[in-house]
Amino acid sequence: MNQVKRGRAFLSTPGPTNVPDRVLNAMHRAAVDLNDPVLVDSMTASFADMKKVFQTTQSEIFIYITNGHGAWEAALANVLSAGDRILVPETGNFSGGWRDVAAAYGATIQEIPNDWRRAMDPAKVAEALAADKNHEIKAVLLVHTDTAVGITADVPAVRKAIDSVGHPALLMVDTIASLGTVDFRMDEWGVDIAVTASQKGLMMPPGLGIVAANPKAVEVHRHSTAPRRYWDWDARLQSEGYRKFCGTAPEHHMFAMREALDMIFEEGLENIFRRHQMLADAVRACVAVWAEAGALSFNAINPAERSNGVTTILTAEGIDAALLRETARDRFQTAVGGGLGKLQGKAFRIGHMGDLNEGMILGTLSAVEATMAYLGIPYQRGGVDAAIRSIAEAHRKADAVPTPMTRVA
Ligand SMILES: Cc1ncc(COP(=O)(O)O)c(C=O)c1O
Repeated sequence: MNQVKRGRAFLSTPGPTNVPDRVLNAMHRAAVDLNDPVLVDSMTASFADMKKVFQTTQSEIFIYITNGHGAWEAALANVLSAGDRILVPETGNFSGGWRDVAAAYGATIQEIPNDWRRAMDPAKVAEALAADKNHEIKAVLLVHTDTAVGITADVPAVRKAIDSVGHPALLMVDTIASLGTVDFRMDEWGVDIAVTASQKGLMMPPGLGIVAANPKAVEVHRHSTAPRRYWDWDARLQSEGYRKFCGTAPEHHMFAMREALDMIFEEGLENIFRRHQMLADAVRACVAVWAEAGALSFNAINPAERSNGVTTILTAEGIDAALLRETARDRFQTAVGGGLGKLQGKAFRIGHMGDLNEGMILGTLSAVEATMAYLGIPYQRGGVDAAIRSIAEAHRKADAVPTPMTRVA
């Protein structure tokens, strides 16, 4: 088959995600003087507006020229001291990644093991903290949505667990795959530090890591002794842009952020969460049908724990998930994510987060189905049809449309 590629390829990886044209266009401009009010005012507004996205009024926002790994490190470098103990409930591949950063900073790690197929158990956090009579544990590192496994943790339940034993540990939450896709209420949920990155729900190009720290976290920072320079909050708490970025501001990324935040508030957080719910429901309806043939299954065993931003699909023995992914991308112009960590080669992931609509997700599902048909992977027919009906039903419900629909003259 002639492989000249026409049309737009679908990007259905769980990060990076689609960058809207409006955001790309906002970057397409000349650089400006660092003190130009056009830049300064835009950045000031974006720092303030990031608080709204995290749903916090009391936290400080720090923006770094980095990715999610850098945001992890930024958060830890500002609150750790030598010999601190850190509690890490295993959520999947990404709790392991954050754990390793803490370990590199000399923290003693206490991990709560989990099987990657279920959400972490808040009761085990309470148990571990209750046993820590001398309060050696300084922080709990929690990944809200672990993108490798497609599972979202119950953050308020973890807060309750910490409070139930009166433990002073900081609650630090990775919202890299959840912010801008599902509800995240930093203040209400008692999260002390939240970290995120630009390339997923925030609809920006990769390149910015963002940390929100509440007053308790900033207080811990004042006494923490971990070595840091670029990450240090002290300089960044000053108002001048050059200090806020520990050097030259990433002007074009900040113009992108301004546009992305405008788009987020135009749609409204509630509507964004509803849209992600609808698209995720459609993907799940489709996968449930495909899975009836026995070759595919949901990684997340409990339906209520399945992420609204990414679905991780296990492939049966003998099915090459990496080939499926390559074929979908190279032959059908649809990129989906691969299995990570111990799921490498054994799973693929459909991202459904960010700048995405009904037609795009149906296109992705159709391309994955075409890939399976092409490769001879067994799947039950009717998956995409189930997704179509799921989306139509969601719209009917939202509009309170009677069934069958009648057009009123
Ligand atoms: C939940 C989560 N945390 C951390 C990361 C790491 O982010 P990055 O790849 O930008 O360093 C990712 C990346 O996919 C992620 O999904």
